[in-house]
Amino acid sequence: MSGSGNKKGDATRLVEAGRRKEWTQGLVSPAVWRASTVLFDDVAALREAVRHADDVLYYGRRGGPTQWALADALTELEPGAAGTTLHASGAAAISTALLAVIKPGDEVLMTDSTYEPTRVFCDTMLRKMGVTTRYYDPLVRGSDIDALFSDKTKTLFMESPGSLTFEVQDVPALCAAAKARGVITMIDNTWATPLLFPAIAHGVDVSILACTKYVSGHSDVMLGSCTAVPGLFEKIRKTLQIMGQAVSPDDAFLASRGLRTMGVRLKQHGEAGLAVARWLQQQQQVAKVIHPALPGDAGYELWSRDFKGAAGLFAFVLDGDDAARVRMVDALDHFGIGFSWGGFESLALPIDPERCRSARPWSVPGKMIRLQVGLEDPADLIADLARGLAAAAQ
Ligand SMILES: Cc1ncc(COP(=O)(O)O)c(C=O)c1O
Repeated sequence: MSGSGNKKGDATRLVEAGRRKEWTQGLVSPAVWRASTVLFDDVAALREAVRHADDVLYYGRRGGPTQWALADALTELEPGAAGTTLHASGAAAISTALLAVIKPGDEVLMTDSTYEPTRVFCDTMLRKMGVTTRYYDPLVRGSDIDALFSDKTKTLFMESPGSLTFEVQDVPALCAAAKARGVITMIDNTWATPLLFPAIAHGVDVSILACTKYVSGHSDVMLGSCTAVPGLFEKIRKTLQIMGQAVSPDDAFLASRGLRTMGVRLKQHGEAGLAVARWLQQQQQVAKVIHPALPGDAGYELWSRDFKGAAGLFAFVLDGDDAARVRMVDALDHFGIGFSWGGFESLALPIDPERCRSARPWSVPGKMIRLQVGLEDPADLIADLARGLAAAAQ
């Protein structure tokens, strides 16, 4: 759905966004409008609906008020955006955005710190289509940025901070250089969300979210979104329609419900995450804490310049081998062991980012664990981690 700019504060926008009267019908939130077939009064009405198929009830695959309300709300969070498309997962949002703009012979510039399935999509599907992916150093700065581009570069993809290694990219500089060459810019903005980093205002053309994470916030929905500037929004929407993608109203409803509390949740995730990160920094068995909001971190300067806050996802390096890491993670009570993040509950995941790097090799002295710090009491989480470190030392 198309959106409109406004000057409300973030918290107010989160509460009010997308709640148009014609969609809520007087309820506080739009209900779950389930539909495949839409019935028309007569043929003239059907023909009229065909002309406006993207924002009037037409056929279930094009969505209905439940999906439109969520899309509209996400658009309102990104000043400068023309609209938002919804996708069945974050991974689907990423692949659809790329497919919408590239053609055989093009080159994608992809950050080396990207989420692994994004890399797999580029190295398999895009390669099969005759599209080259060139991985670049996420820490590229200054005049080195200009050297990234070739005549074939069609799009520059960023993920900042990277969701395993947490490098913060110089997004405004990368976007300015891309814009000067007519290159389309995209970002996986899942860590920060538009609340902590309004990507389009920083120059990005397409801001992509795995709404599975902080937007939904309860680890019970798979959903993705692309919020884009005029021209690209329509292109991505056309691509998803051609591909027959649709999002269920139930999932859109749950994501809309989650969105209302995303601001307060993110604040708590961020503060608790930093408390846990600072504690970890003081532990002898911890070789390094990788968190862009910690002074001294490689990403701290850019994070301080560009971000409005921190999320609750970061990593640390355990001084030990894999067996010690497994002992530690297995000993935790409050941290679940599982993929994904952004829900209300804490998670711990052994990660080995060196497996999926090519442009800037990744090496750390020890074994990494990624933490998603949830909404539990930080003191309980810290006590849990102390238990885990004791188990690792055995
Ligand atoms: C940074 C990032 N982007 C995208 C995705 C993909 O989202 P989804 O799991 O909804 O496909 C993930 C999932 O973990 C992620 O961490």
